[in-house]
Amino acid sequence: MSAKTPEQSKTIMTDMVLPGETNPLNNLFGGELLARMDRAASISARRHSRRIVVTASVNHVAFNRAVPLGSVVTVEAKVSRAFKTSMEVFIDVWVEDRESGDKAKANEAIYTFVAVDETGRPIAVPEVRPETDLEKERYAAALRRKQLSLLLAGKIKPNDATELKALFE
Ligand SMILES: CC(C)(COP(=O)(O)OP(=O)(O)OC[C@H]1O[C@@H](n2cnc3c(N)ncnc32)[C@H](O)[C@@H]1OP(=O)(O)O)[C@@H](O)C(=O)NCCC(=O)NCCS
Repeated sequence: MSAKTPEQSKTIMTDMVLPGETNPLNNLFGGELLARMDRAASISARRHSRRIVVTASVNHVAFNRAVPLGSVVTVEAKVSRAFKTSMEVFIDVWVEDRESGDKAKANEAIYTFVAVDETGRPIAVPEVRPETDLEKERYAAALRRKQLSLLLAGKIKPNDATELKALFE
């Protein structure tokens, strides 16, 4: 399996914020944004692996900025690193200014997807070959995030989280 670049899995979804998708402050409901990010990230992981993919975990979400009703929201997802069967997908969310058309970063998130076969069993995926400085930075930190996620899920022991331990040494 030959390595793929993050650009090859890039997925961009643009949509408006409609009244049924807001909270009482007329800003985009958090769960709606999570669903949009999950969909974009899922397509990205599928493009990278060309397999059925399932969401294994949501590693990080930052709702830094409220997104008002009527906004045009762009969700951009790319696979930042692949391990054996799992893929880390980085999601950047942008809101477009109506008058200028300029895009401002509103939120970001990191999801983990696993490629599976027809019976739901994990299956190997291609490696990621990062190209830009940002892609290289995200690639380098992904193992640390994977270990943190596995540690919080109780799937590894603290002693096995070598990348995390190295931060404190
Ligand atoms: C995700 C799933 C396939 C993992 O199955 P599993 O039996 O735990 O398989 P493994 O232990 O071999 O893990 C598979 C990979 O996922 C990774 N993984 C599992 N849980 C993880 C977590 N919480 N965080 C990060 N990575 C995780 C493992 O490290 C492994 O990665 P690697 O092969 O790249 O090293 C399985 O738990 C599942 O099907 N979950 C339901 C998924 C789903 O329905 N999602 C939608 C939610 S509604």
